[in-house]
Amino acid sequence: MRKPFVAGNWKMNKTIAEARDLITKMSAELRVISDVEKVLCPPFMSLMDAFKLLEGSGIGLGAQNMHWEEKGAFTGEVSPAMVKELCGYVILGHSERRAYFGETDEIVNRKLISAQSIDLTPIVCVGETLDQYESKLTREVVSKQTSLSLRDVSPTFAPRIVVAYEPVWAIGTGKASNGEEANAVVKDVIRPALAELFGNETSQAIRVLYGGSVTSSNATEFFGQPDIDGALVGGASLKIDEFAAITKAAAQ
Ligand code: 13P
Repeated sequence: MRKPFVAGNWKMNKTIAEARDLITKMSAELRVISDVEKVLCPPFMSLMDAFKLLEGSGIGLGAQNMHWEEKGAFTGEVSPAMVKELCGYVILGHSERRAYFGETDEIVNRKLISAQSIDLTPIVCVGETLDQYESKLTREVVSKQTSLSLRDVSPTFAPRIVVAYEPVWAIGTGKASNGEEANAVVKDVIRPALAELFGNETSQAIRVLYGGSVTSSNATEFFGQPDIDGALVGGASLKIDEFAAITKAAAQ
């Protein structure tokens, strides 16, 4: 049995003051929803406040990125140990990091190995671009991203990993994939790639989320799919009612 999982990726939204307010209100709504693992991923600048505000709430805290090195001359970067002081989770290889900051599967993999060594739960993102989707390359691209990003992970840590399938063309566009199509990618591409890496049993234990224009209106379509275990939510995670409704839908 895979426990449902919902994470809100705030991306580069909300000032420190705005985030404080939103986390306080969000926490009141989310803390009463059980049977689902809930995680908020605000910007780095708000992690300290979030850490304090979410204490004892049962709501997890995640960073949106981190560097792979332990420490050193990496101006502007945040180390795994710094993230670990406040967070239990970290998003790795989001398509925006891949597209705008040159993150390759190799870099994502280095970060994942660092997350493993410091015991952070990674949310590893994979997904094809619109061009790749239209050229019918989805399966090839997603399979390769999964295999390369998750290589060399220990079999004991593997079940901790959360994979997020986020078709790039569905992110922030209001054009979500549909349940059946997304489920097919998870079932026929991501789980087989995980099985190749870690064996069939572990591949069935790893949670795989869908992400890309998830709202309270389409969430149940994804959560009703046998291979989709929750959602990585962007825009709708900034709206209290929307995110609470999505989280409730995942719990059911
Ligand atoms: P949207 O929900 O805004 O499409 O973003 C999805 C996403 O990128 C979550 O990481």
